[in-house]
Amino acid sequence: MGKLDGRVVLITGAARGQGEQEARLFAEEGARVVLCDVLDEEGGALAAELGASRARYVHLDVGEEDDWARAVTAAKDAFGRIDGLVNNAGVLRFNELVSTPLEEFMGVVRVNQVGCFLGIRAVAPEIEAAGGGTIVNTASYTALTGMAYVGAYAATKHAVLGLTRVAAVELGGKGIRVNAVCPGAVDTPMSNPEGADPATLDELYRRLVPLGRVGRPEEVAALALFLSCADSAYITGQPFVVDGGWLAGVNVF
Ligand SMILES: NC(=O)c1ccc[n+]([C@@H]2O[C@H](COP(=O)([O-])OP(=O)(O)OC[C@H]3O[C@@H](n4cnc5c(N)ncnc54)[C@H](O)[C@@H]3O)[C@@H](O)[C@H]2O)c1
Repeated sequence: MGKLDGRVVLITGAARGQGEQEARLFAEEGARVVLCDVLDEEGGALAAELGASRARYVHLDVGEEDDWARAVTAAKDAFGRIDGLVNNAGVLRFNELVSTPLEEFMGVVRVNQVGCFLGIRAVAPEIEAAGGGTIVNTASYTALTGMAYVGAYAATKHAVLGLTRVAAVELGGKGIRVNAVCPGAVDTPMSNPEGADPATLDELYRRLVPLGRVGRPEEVAALALFLSCADSAYITGQPFVVDGGWLAGVNVF
């Protein structure tokens, strides 16, 4: 018995990183997964690897309303219904607030914040029609605290928590639970920008993170699974931090 037997879950940003691991784990646990991304080659290859009985790839730019409508139709055509959503797609830009061009700020808002809103709006009615289910939004450590040089990103991740709480209140009566994952530093392409020295990053996390290392995308997927299955049946509207203890406090020694 899998924890998601019979479920149909749409996952955004599923071509790589945390979304890829969520797709793999959810499929292992019995779900049929609809992988959505703008990286069509990688997303298509992952869906092919998981097999047509368990997975489909659909092109979805989360900031585009029309793409959401097409993705919902494609998911229902493939698997009959949708009863789970993981809003995982996201982008990160580094810049000092006073140097951030409006266009750059709005580009982050479009994907991280508008994408999450459009996802809830497009998919919640389908989950309700399926008899209830779950939504997991991907926030961040920076949804709960500040961090220099990621102002646009932190603002959108704070907004994701606001959307999570409001959606939980509005959708609870429809049998839909809505929670958020708040990862710290996780080893994906996002946290390994070109030119970053892996040894320097390892040393940084050894000092900053009580558990002494960067997180693995599989560890975030495990939390998304918990929030998508019956193990979390009485939990909604909450942020869940998965950060190796980074937010717990400062180590001065
Ligand atoms: N890696 C970290 O340290 C970390 C920490 C906290 C939160 N997060 C969040 O976790 C989520 C996953 O990030 P990741 O670490 O796997 O990074 P990643 O860059 O490896 O993956 C992000 C995925 O989102 C996709 N994407 C980007 N823009 C999109 C759009 N407009 N429409 C659809 N898909 C789009 C990308 O193509 C990619 O496949 C993001 O929301 C990110 O903000 C990551």
